[in-house]
Amino acid sequence: MKFFLDTADLSEIEQGLAWGMVDGITTNPTLIARQGKPYLPTVRAIAQLVPGPVSGEVLATDSEGMLDEAHRLADLAPNMVIKIPLTIAGLSVVGKLTEEGIKTNVTLCFSSAQALLAAKAGASYISPFVGRLDDIGEEGMGLIANIVQIYDNYDFSTEVLVASIRHPMHVVESALLGAHVATLPLKVLKKLYRHPLTDIGLENFLADWRKTGKSFSD
Ligand code: G3P
Repeated sequence: MKFFLDTADLSEIEQGLAWGMVDGITTNPTLIARQGKPYLPTVRAIAQLVPGPVSGEVLATDSEGMLDEAHRLADLAPNMVIKIPLTIAGLSVVGKLTEEGIKTNVTLCFSSAQALLAAKAGASYISPFVGRLDDIGEEGMGLIANIVQIYDNYDFSTEVLVASIRHPMHVVESALLGAHVATLPLKVLKKLYRHPLTDIGLENFLADWRKTGKSFSD
């Protein structure tokens, strides 16, 4: 399973890369706005920092505008993936970009029907938002199970990129279901490492050795 970081914060990205666990990045307009920096230069800086795929989202909502912005994003770096909203206009643009060999990530997916359409349009990734479904009392992980099953039934090559992840169990359940990618905030990635028994175990190992009064090389 691939891990992407869901952030536009360069220091978070550097941290994640240093841990050796980050395969790519997803951004969205909210995350970029949070940085208080210009849009395209921020996406370019991320794409230059990260060797793996970097999703940058279009801001236009009409097909012509989306196509133009998609080309401008794709020109930023060879690892760019173009994030397109799941609308009629959006999926028509996905079809065109796919024909041109440009990778796409269809975002704001909240239903199996939408995911089926995105795969038929040729999307490279589909981004179902599990946390936002949970927030309104629906089962985010149930959607992931359905999409994985549907894509498997028809051998679609679209990768399931689980988004809007809020906690470690979203990641574990996505992995159990066979989702290809989880995009997560740095704080969730950090939580994946943690277990109290690891901390206690390490503390005890070191305390026991200290009691011998000997050093590492004695
Ligand atoms: O990038 C899309 C998605 O991961 C956003 O998550 O936390 O705003 O629902 P969230």
